Amino acid sequence: MPSNTFFSVNDVSYHYKNRRGIEHINFQINPGDFVGLIGANGAGKSTLINLITGLIEPHHGSINFTDDFTFNQLGFSSQTLSIDWYLSVFDNVLMGALLAGYKMNIAKHLTEEALKLTELSKYKNQAVDELSGGQQQRVQIARAIVYIAIE
Ligand SMILES: Nc1ncnc2c1ncn2[C@@H]1O[C@H](COP(=O)(O)OP(=O)(O)OP(=O)(O)O)[C@@H](O)[C@H]1O
Ligand SMILES: [Mg+2]
Repeated sequence: MPSNTFFSVNDVSYHYKNRRGIEHINFQINPGDFVGLIGANGAGKSTLINLITGLIEPHHGSINFTDDFTFNQLGFSSQTLSIDWYLSVFDNVLMGALLAGYKMNIAKHLTEEALKLTELSKYKNQAVDELSGGQQQRVQIARAIVYIAIE
């Protein structure tokens, strides 16, 4: 892997029981890259993202990260919502910062920043099951980016 690469996907394949998931995928991501993944429904986008985040493992090939990579550098907002419906918006996002290893006072500050970035500040004390679907998606995105929400 070239030394400036953040991570590389090397000849990766993943198969579901009788169905093809993805086959022989190769690419690399460098620091500062801003990448979009597009494709038809069923093309394999979520499968690839699940492989990169480590939720599933490749049947063939490998995914290699830079040596100083740790998983708390990876923010993930899944296609199917995975948030705590009965916690407040603030506490859902705070959870992301705490799980990334920040102490409570810094985690709270980061949460305020992530809520500002996602324009959710005014909902912070509401339970997420009282929000619209799009607002709930934004809570999940705020939780995914909270660890980098530094002013
Ligand atoms: N859990 C599963 N079990 C069996 N087959 C699956 C499973 N998840 C996905 N597949 C199949 O793998 C292929 C790729 O699915 P994937 O979810 O990666 O597509 P996608 O590009 O994310 O689609 P979408 O745009 O609809 O979200 C599809 O043919 C799908 O039916
Ligand atoms: Mg998908």
